[in-house]
Amino acid sequence: MIILGIESSCDETAVALVKNGKKVLAHQISSQIKDHAPFFGVVPEIASRKHLEWIFPLIEACCREAKMSLSNIDAIAVTREPGLMGSLLVGFTVAKTLAFALDKPFIPVNHLWAHFYAPFLNQEPLPFPYAGLLVSGGHTLLALIRNYHNIEILGSTIDDAVGECYDKVAKLLKLTYPGGPEIDRLAQQGNPDTYSLPFIQLNYEKDRYNFSYSGLKTAARRLIEKEANLNIKDFAASFQKKAIDILIKKSQLLCQDFHLKSLVVSGGVACNSYLRSQLTLLKKIQTAIPRHELCTDNAAMVAGLAYYLPQLSKKDFILLDVKDKVISALEKQKLRL
Ligand code: KG4
Ligand code: ZN
Repeated sequence: MIILGIESSCDETAVALVKNGKKVLAHQISSQIKDHAPFFGVVPEIASRKHLEWIFPLIEACCREAKMSLSNIDAIAVTREPGLMGSLLVGFTVAKTLAFALDKPFIPVNHLWAHFYAPFLNQEPLPFPYAGLLVSGGHTLLALIRNYHNIEILGSTIDDAVGECYDKVAKLLKLTYPGGPEIDRLAQQGNPDTYSLPFIQLNYEKDRYNFSYSGLKTAARRLIEKEANLNIKDFAASFQKKAIDILIKKSQLLCQDFHLKSLVVSGGVACNSYLRSQLTLLKKIQTAIPRHELCTDNAAMVAGLAYYLPQLSKKDFILLDVKDKVISALEKQKLRL
């Protein structure tokens, strides 16, 4: 079964064709990094406009890459949630329209769950259940993955996401956006024991699997402002150790508490060299991480996961809409009333 996947939840327009949840036949991404770089963060209005500009050329490019036409596709999958409202709407509307016009089944996908599927595009799936650590510019969360439809978030950041913290500290260091890869590169040549920065654990029981990065960011800012002769490589290594070690520690805790033998790590920060090397040192926990280009937002993970999800027919998807944070919060509120 060949699924066309579309992803437009944030600042990457992506399209892919994946066979049987496994074989990536085509995979195209248009990154908007350059468009948002002057603002040091994603500007929603610019993101939506860029998605509109790129989505059809990318669908055409995927068909060319896989040497097939849209009529060879068996179903259409798209990210429905979470994400920026305007951005989600572009991909979702295009996917719904294609499914309607081509008379194909439609598969809405949760972007976070798709990230957790990404490693299995190039390795055998792990046996359920397992732990999931999602680390990106927008998310830092720990989940218990019982199966592809049953995923429970047990912890998340209570303030900044880890990638966001990297980007903000990189901005203070006057590095280019996004700062994660830059800090990672510098850190590889630095001594992590040079500068003293806080290791923020959140010791209350309710925060057992939660994270906090605003304290590390503030301490980093104070140090940058105070140290006239800051050694940027040593600073990057010292910052990186504190930012990443807590991810490893809490992932281990979750595995231990729930007797889980394996851990999936995904999202942009999963490209980090120090995180990847620390994961290989974990004893008794098998890890699965996507290859670099599938860590960040992509549509192959959407089309891959969709193979295992329910397919909707016209009458079920025609009135379906995207779900952003505001809509999810309103739905929860309605349930409580
Ligand atoms: O998953 P992603 O592409 O987008 C979001 O959905 O947020 O992740 C982007 C984030 C950025 O914050 C970027 O700085 C970070 O991932 N990142 C890294 C590395 N590569 C990307 N952070 C640390 N080390 C890296 N090597
Ligand atoms: Zn993402």
